[in-house]
Amino acid sequence: MNSLVEDKSLDLELLDFSKIILPPCPSVGIELIKLRNDPDVTVEELANVIELDPSLTANLFRICNSSLYRNLIPKENIEDCIIHSLGVDGALDLALELCILAEMNADPSVMNESCWLHSMATGEIAKSLSKLPNFESEGVIAKDAYLCGLLHDIGHILLNSVFGKDYHLAFDMTFPDMVKEGTALGEFEISLYGSTHASVGYELAENWGLPDKICKAIRYHHTSPIPEVKDKIYVGLVVLAENILTHLNPNEGIDSLRDIPVELLNQVGLSNYRDLSGRVMRNIGRIVNNYRSVI
Ligand SMILES: [Fe+2]
Ligand SMILES: [Fe+2]
Repeated sequence: MNSLVEDKSLDLELLDFSKIILPPCPSVGIELIKLRNDPDVTVEELANVIELDPSLTANLFRICNSSLYRNLIPKENIEDCIIHSLGVDGALDLALELCILAEMNADPSVMNESCWLHSMATGEIAKSLSKLPNFESEGVIAKDAYLCGLLHDIGHILLNSVFGKDYHLAFDMTFPDMVKEGTALGEFEISLYGSTHASVGYELAENWGLPDKICKAIRYHHTSPIPEVKDKIYVGLVVLAENILTHLNPNEGIDSLRDIPVELLNQVGLSNYRDLSGRVMRNIGRIVNNYRSVI
């Protein structure tokens, strides 16, 4: 075990999810302040800003599914949370309070930027993929696909928040050599914390009452093959979106996706990577270019 983290083994039994504050992305806080100054802000505009950020989105699900707000209407997205629980002013106040609270407790050594950007890009790609005929025929809802992608690595943000710079240091110092030896990210995390970001993220998501398909995407996004579970198609969408984010070279075109495992493509109803070509892929190319320009 790396000496940097040897006193910090993660015990899920001891982790109090109710006391965890996941830090939101600061630029989203700035967008919220702009909306606060707009008297005509709509539910959709506010939901679109909150849903840019995995931490804020998870926190709002958590609060709207708490005993304080729980009612019989299931909340599948942030528009539901605003309409059925919080109202526009309530949601805006709450989101801003969460940003301020996170800022007050911020540890400057915690660097979540790459994870926020990765989460947003994965969500955008999953949403674009949901327009492909095979996903539409499976009844995939674009907004749900987006939220599964946005939240799939919430455990990564959680580990970052709990272990701060130690997680980064251990990752940077140890993981590259472990990869060369064939070690997967999950094995590395288990060697440090006794758990993976997928497992601990799932525990958090369940505890906070996130929608079931999002919980599944968090839990199984590093499991291969994807198990036969309800909403498996959303897990597949997220895994495919991550693969595209890793492999796509927009200049090289569709053939840059040749290394995506055919087993994964088959699991989401595609026969080979060329099935991904077309208008949807051009849109995804723009998302990948934007992502690479800021990362
Ligand atoms: Fe990821
Ligand atoms: Fe992940």
